[in-house]
Amino acid sequence: MITHVRQGPNILPLELKDINFEARGQRLIKDMNCAFSTKRRNVIIGPNGAGKSLLLRLCHGLLKPSTGSIEWSGAGANKGREYITHQQAMVFQRPVMLRRSVSGNIDYALALKGVTPSQRREITDNVLQRAGLRRLADQPARVLSGGEQQRLALARVWALSPEVLFLDEPTANLDPSATHAVEEIIQAIHETGTCIIMTSHDLGQARRLADEVLFLHRGRLLERAPTEQFFDNPQNDLAQAFVKGELLWWNRGRDNRKPPKENN
Ligand SMILES: Nc1ncnc2c1ncn2[C@@H]1O[C@H](COP(=O)(O)OP(=O)(O)OP(=O)(O)O)[C@@H](O)[C@H]1O
Ligand SMILES: [Mg+2]
Repeated sequence: MITHVRQGPNILPLELKDINFEARGQRLIKDMNCAFSTKRRNVIIGPNGAGKSLLLRLCHGLLKPSTGSIEWSGAGANKGREYITHQQAMVFQRPVMLRRSVSGNIDYALALKGVTPSQRREITDNVLQRAGLRRLADQPARVLSGGEQQRLALARVWALSPEVLFLDEPTANLDPSATHAVEEIIQAIHETGTCIIMTSHDLGQARRLADEVLFLHRGRLLERAPTEQFFDNPQNDLAQAFVKGELLWWNRGRDNRKPPKENN
């Protein structure tokens, strides 16, 4: 059974060196250094406005850093821009559906990648079944519910089998059973060897899905650790406060600690 079409050398690791990102005179990502080197599940957490979505967009190449470099340094990176583009995919919180049927959305994405019609049919059928969407195959994608669209967006990238998958809040606005379904799909995609780099507001989800947690606060990466270590014994004060649910916004009335020092 064909489940994916990935071929060729890896583009990972992804290396971020001294990244700053500025917009409208504000430094929104600050002095960030990190690398994603293995096919692990990385979950980026942090309060609203911390820079999580910006970091994903920078990594995926949708934004360019103001200073610093973001580079794919695997052997596959030498194969050029188009190859690098095909090896990675991103799913947004509100996925973009084409004005086609559910199966047509997947078929079209595979066709763009040059997959033959018979392989396209087999892969489409397989991922729709595994995402629990087969009975909706002929429906227009845009009439699906939010949770179904999120599953379809994941089925579509699953079919493409990217080496790296960026997910921005993939379960925000979904009910518990849709969240569970989406988490299972993410897990299954990971099991095909895809590196997951995702953001989440849901600390339970980070515990369930992550191999490694990255904690962002006001544009800085303050801590990165294996999941168990991060939740059991966060080293950074702000990460500790966040894990305890105390850092949604800085409230000096409720909490006498001073706000964190900023070196803008
Ligand atoms: N194009 C832009 N121009 C100016 N400011 C921006 C731009 N994009 C994002 N920002 C600001 O950068 C900060 C980080 O935004 P980002 O969307 O990355 O936050 P986030 O951590 O994903 O938050 P949330 O948890 O709410 O999704 C926010 O204060 C946001 O207002
Ligand atoms: Mg965001």
